[in-house]
Amino acid sequence: MTPEHASELTAKVCALAPVIPVLVVEDAAHAADLARALIEGGLPALEVTLRTPSALEVIREMARVEGGVVGAGTLLSPEDVEAAKEAGATFGVCPGATKRILDACEANDLPLLPAAATASEVLRLYERGYTVQKFFPAEVNGGVPALKAIGAPIPQVKFCPTGGVSLRNAPEYLSLSNTLCVGGSWVAPKEMVASGDWAGITRLAAEAAALPR
Ligand code: 3PG
Repeated sequence: MTPEHASELTAKVCALAPVIPVLVVEDAAHAADLARALIEGGLPALEVTLRTPSALEVIREMARVEGGVVGAGTLLSPEDVEAAKEAGATFGVCPGATKRILDACEANDLPLLPAAATASEVLRLYERGYTVQKFFPAEVNGGVPALKAIGAPIPQVKFCPTGGVSLRNAPEYLSLSNTLCVGGSWVAPKEMVASGDWAGITRLAAEAAALPR
């Protein structure tokens, strides 16, 4: 898959809702209920981070839930890319971008949302063909003013800012012309997942899904 095609596909994922939930799921037994709760609230694009031993199983379970678009986050190696693809992830997210990971995603036909935090990083990915990128970690890299400033000289690249984004600051990001959606973990707090508070998670998702952009 070319980077251009990958970006076309990740743009479609970003268009599904204003927020992509960033999920750290410890127990695969929670996966299907969590996916249903978020989808019911209006957030169909789900990023399952490869940060727990059960993450690949979580992707497998969530991929079976109707109405969801399940991606793998925290891709740190070509092996992660292959495992995520095999588990059923339909897109990938990386906290940065390396040649090995870009090569692996392109070779395995896994549309990647690669991350950049500076104008040079954005440009390097743009040179390769990635017009949709994650701005990470967003808040500590200057947040909304930084992303707006990057957009002035490089309006061709659109972003999914992630890292420190919350219900409070999401509207400012979403109002930027170079922001397609935001990523955030606030819609699926660990305690609510652990206690099975699916109705509560659906409420948080609905609140996020209603954000204007
Ligand atoms: C992450 O890598 O955990 C994501 O960027 C989510 O960040 P957040 O917890 O600040 O939403």
